[in-house]
Amino acid sequence: MGRWQAVKTRNPMRVVILPTEQEASDFAADFIEKLIIENENAVLGLATGSSVLLTYETLIKKYQSGEMSFKNIITFNLDEYIGLKPNHTKSYRHYMNQKLFDHIDIDTKNVFIPECFNQDYELSCENYESKIRQHGGIDLQLLGIGTNGHIGFNEPTSSLKSRTRVKTLTQNTITNNSRFFENNEVQPSIAITMGIGTIMEAQNIILIGLGKHKSKAVADLIEGPVSSFCPGSVLQNHRNAVVVLDNLAASNLKLYDYYIHTEKMYLKYMC
Ligand code: F6R
Repeated sequence: MGRWQAVKTRNPMRVVILPTEQEASDFAADFIEKLIIENENAVLGLATGSSVLLTYETLIKKYQSGEMSFKNIITFNLDEYIGLKPNHTKSYRHYMNQKLFDHIDIDTKNVFIPECFNQDYELSCENYESKIRQHGGIDLQLLGIGTNGHIGFNEPTSSLKSRTRVKTLTQNTITNNSRFFENNEVQPSIAITMGIGTIMEAQNIILIGLGKHKSKAVADLIEGPVSSFCPGSVLQNHRNAVVVLDNLAASNLKLYDYYIHTEKMYLKYMC
């Protein structure tokens, strides 16, 4: 059994709780590294936002120290704002360039982000789905979670089978993300996002939850019913999903001690 096989999980979801944001992010970076070492042509699904920042920093360090290469890696981002030019400083393409792609050896022709400027958006969504299929699907999808439980920009009440589409953002998401925009800047309120059905087709999923402000969404995701009210809860039905949390994000979990125990058992018997 290869190393990557060894870290794979089976239903139910693996919940990993680590003391700090840095340790949780390093865990996610190691997880991604293992996949890439097993498969240098892997297809990664990537996210933007604060939760993945330290993970990207750790991946950059791993690349700089010669531990890993992204030369043949293909990436698909979860989402992009409609109406922002790709080079707009608040576009997710710009974020990805700044936070990851400009610092590693990825081939820019292998980078896919929904086309969201001056497009036929419906066609753009269909093309995105077919590009994912052409590349054989996503091997590992990286996710954050919104305080309202969204994954990608699949807001509460999104269909659990939804595909890549245009989505209107909730006021909660707009308010949370206003921190990335200046006062005089227009903040988009619609976006293209991979659907929940699209995300669930990834072979492996790792979701990062950091900070007290995520603790309710995280508890709904792990311990709530599977419901479109908390889109992240659908991961309970994924065959290979890992949720990695810092202690603060895990602080609302009713079965906190149980997850600590099961992870110890997992490490003892499965790795
Ligand atoms: C980002 C994305 C979103 C974020 C979520 C958490 O591409 O799809 O689902 O992962 O909004 O955002 P942060 O990490 O900024 O709290």
